[in-house]
Amino acid sequence: MTSPYKEKRIRLFNEDCLKTMRIIPDNSIDLILTDPPYNISKYSTGNIELPNRSALNNDIANWDLVELDPKDFIEDFKRILKPTGNIFIFTSYNMIGKWHDVFDSEFDTFQYFIWHKTNPAPKIYKNGFLNSCEMIACMWNKGHTWNFSTQNEMHNFFESPICMGKERLKNPKHPAQKPIKLLEHLIKIASNENDIVFDPFMGVASTAIAALNLNRMFAGCEIDETYYYASINRIKNHLYNNKKFPNINSPEVVKEETENYMSTFDW
Ligand SMILES: C[S@@+](CC[C@H](N)C(=O)[O-])C[C@H]1O[C@@H](n2cnc3c(N)ncnc32)[C@H](O)[C@@H]1O
Repeated sequence: MTSPYKEKRIRLFNEDCLKTMRIIPDNSIDLILTDPPYNISKYSTGNIELPNRSALNNDIANWDLVELDPKDFIEDFKRILKPTGNIFIFTSYNMIGKWHDVFDSEFDTFQYFIWHKTNPAPKIYKNGFLNSCEMIACMWNKGHTWNFSTQNEMHNFFESPICMGKERLKNPKHPAQKPIKLLEHLIKIASNENDIVFDPFMGVASTAIAALNLNRMFAGCEIDETYYYASINRIKNHLYNNKKFPNINSPEVVKEETENYMSTFDW
């Protein structure tokens, strides 16, 4: 089902992102920041029973079983990205080589970035490493936007807990919801205010919230209807509850000002 939902500086699509990308103009996206399926469910040995606790859910989701081929994305990603743009793709040990095989020769630079989770699931049976790191493949060409802060802050490594507490959506719960703090870190480095950030696999719109917090525009796709509507709700709640207008007390005026504050995409 296609139902583009237009919320001024935000554009969301409920469909396969390969279809959505056909309508995105050439050279129009500043940053592709996305978290596609890792295709790791096929390696799962199922849930792990734990003594005196509920089982550890080791299966990701059905959407992770659909085989993803980086070759299907290279042409559109290159076409829609501005020459100054950057691409960040969350991935895992089994996919990083596939992204590298297809994307490395197409860009000036291919690097990886590590997210270290400070609160990974424990290894109850103490028979291996805790899975505390996730990889992000990064690509760009010469002249790309790059807000280098300090040598200490620009390591290809970031620490934060997995999404928890108030930030974690309860209904629906998304098994791969990413923390806003991490996404903000990447967006700050690789784009500027009013740039367009695109997430073709947006889940429950974590990239959108991070982009809005930093005054960027956002376009995103999600194939699953439940997550798509959860994204709309999450963005709306965020817009209407944000503190952009701290001196206005009336919720109605805040709502109006929030809408006015946003400008529109021309596609
Ligand atoms: C790893 S999750 C993204 C989670 C997201 N980073 C968040 O914080 O909510 C990947 C998402 O991509 C969606 N998806 C899978 N194939 C897709 C496709 N071809 N087009 C658009 N969305 C797709 C899945 O339904 C899933 O929600």
